[in-house]
Amino acid sequence: MTTPAGIASILQEHRVFPPPADLASRLGGAVVGSMEDLRAMHRRALDDPEGFWGGLAREHLHWFTPFSKVLEWSCPDARWFVGGTTNACFNCVDRHVEAGHGDEVAILWEGEPVGAGGPEVRRLTYGDLQRETSRLANALASLGVRTGDVVTIYMGMVPEVVIAMLACARLGAAHSVIFGGFSAPAIVDRVNDAGSRVILTCDGAWRRGSVVPLKAHVDEACRSLPEVGQVIVLRRCGNEVSTTAGRDLDWHALVASQPDHRPCVPMDSEATLFLLYTSGSTGKPKGIVHSTAGYGLHVAFTARATFNLRPDRGQVFWCTADVGWITGHSYVVYGILPNRVPCLIYEGAPNFTREDRFWEIVARHRVTHFYTAPTAIRAFMKWGDAHPARHDLSSLMVLGSVGEPINPEAWMWYRERIGGGRCPIVDTFWQTETGGHVITPLPCATPTVPGSCTLPIPGIDAAVVDESGRELPPGRGGLLVIRRPWPGMLRGVRGDRQRFIDTYWSRVPGMYVAGDAARRDERGYFWILGRIDDVINVSGHRLGTAEVESALVAHEAVVEAAVVGMPHEIKGTGIAAFVTLGPGASPSEALKSNLREHVAREIGAIAKPDMIRFTGALPKTRSGKIMRRLLRDVAAGRESAQDVTTLEDFSVLSRLRESEEA
Ligand code: PRX
Repeated sequence: MTTPAGIASILQEHRVFPPPADLASRLGGAVVGSMEDLRAMHRRALDDPEGFWGGLAREHLHWFTPFSKVLEWSCPDARWFVGGTTNACFNCVDRHVEAGHGDEVAILWEGEPVGAGGPEVRRLTYGDLQRETSRLANALASLGVRTGDVVTIYMGMVPEVVIAMLACARLGAAHSVIFGGFSAPAIVDRVNDAGSRVILTCDGAWRRGSVVPLKAHVDEACRSLPEVGQVIVLRRCGNEVSTTAGRDLDWHALVASQPDHRPCVPMDSEATLFLLYTSGSTGKPKGIVHSTAGYGLHVAFTARATFNLRPDRGQVFWCTADVGWITGHSYVVYGILPNRVPCLIYEGAPNFTREDRFWEIVARHRVTHFYTAPTAIRAFMKWGDAHPARHDLSSLMVLGSVGEPINPEAWMWYRERIGGGRCPIVDTFWQTETGGHVITPLPCATPTVPGSCTLPIPGIDAAVVDESGRELPPGRGGLLVIRRPWPGMLRGVRGDRQRFIDTYWSRVPGMYVAGDAARRDERGYFWILGRIDDVINVSGHRLGTAEVESALVAHEAVVEAAVVGMPHEIKGTGIAAFVTLGPGASPSEALKSNLREHVAREIGAIAKPDMIRFTGALPKTRSGKIMRRLLRDVAAGRESAQDVTTLEDFSVLSRLRESEEA
């Protein structure tokens, strides 16, 4: 957790862990084997980016038509692999079948419920994926889905969610996956913005032994979505669902009659592979646009390099993220499958039926690579060492962390209790917008330091700069930027070019501004210090404070609301809401829980405030701006270091401090 105290402690971190000597041989050979090789590769990439990325593109992707030029760049617009055609589903599936690997396991899936004979386990081969994505692509085509359309996917973690994504790619349609934890209004916003006419969903999703009624959420959303013509429903949980004739179709019946084969459509390199909605500092979530070839290359390359993936070496890769987030897109699907390493998917919660479920899975399936978020690691720590100790975790070789800064205590626990002291930890820094990893250790090359994401991936020109774009010396905090284009970079924000330019390309002209503060140490290693905008990472899930505020003010009792992040032991960042009530409403515990439920209904349970304070007024500057930094200090229980001379009404501050906590 990166509280100011947390930051102070990571800045004094001096422990260095070199890559274990025998790791490369256990992994079947190093992809990048030493710091010398890593530095040489990085230099080569920066000296000749077109040669570097062009070579990787030919090595990692299958091309129907070869590209004629590696890059056309006119900031902020990049066109990578110009003139080439490829297909993401072909790269993930068909080429392995064509190369004779059709019978190998691509997806190893474990369901959440545990029956008398243990949990349900399914193994899907590349051949199965080719057949199932063909059938579903044929079904979608029969419903009128065409190349260039956007299909919305709102499903649980079942193999069919991957089949759905890949079927869209096969057909040349873009997908927009909505996390199954989002509620109906969040679905409405995203489907409207994407202009989807078809939604793929499930009756429900298993979560900690209960059913999340996904189809009911879609039904509710569809009341405000007259353009949605078809909802395709996969049966998973067997819960009761209502069916709207003419609109709802049974997935199984629909695909059963479809032909087993449909060729992958050759797609232009720059064709949109998917939209993924993510939170920004203002307004509604934005649809980040990713390309077919550039994104596909970036994630296949980084998956191989960061995790040292090798086919035919018994590796089993498990990323615990939901496919509703970028981590699931990149390191459950599009980065892993091209590397021909089986990908494990677990359907449910880490503490069902017990707190050792993850370790049971690692042992049962001999997982070699495990990739999760610091918030999960902190929860495991809290649940106690006995849980991992009960299982044989000796198959593990590489551990990954993603989504938020990892505090050194959690890092060390992960290393010792899960990795047995023999697995390097790759702390991967990246974002929805970067497509894949941009700063991360490589397991056989980079000495690691708890809390640092270390060095950029070769070809990524990351730097810490001041507002004028000047690089800062070691030790100085500044803006994290990327100074040159990279293949996996976002291609835009759907339907809002100005927002694309303003958010990422205006603050430091000519450079991509990530929205995080960072510093480098003497070794050149990067330390992420946290967001510089009104985005918060709650349990590694990205939320805009503005979204939570607008959900709160939509409640009849609320006049004004200000939401800020606050330190939280498990979540890293929790949500604190300061709320002013209208006449007729009075503060009470009942109203607090009512407001929390209201936010869950508007956005999803992940956005529920951890603390609500009722206040007569919010602290504002004389020009009427809410003083968020001051609220952050109040929420964290700190004395504020902020200059309050611009505070409109000083008594607001003392009343805020006195106001009772949730
Ligand atoms: O603040 C950084 C944090 O997560 C943000 C990106 O969130 P999202 O687009 O949802 O993608 C999360 C998964 C890649 C970043 O701006 N973040 C992500 N990884 C790290 C991190 N902060 C510190 N260390 C990381 N390894």
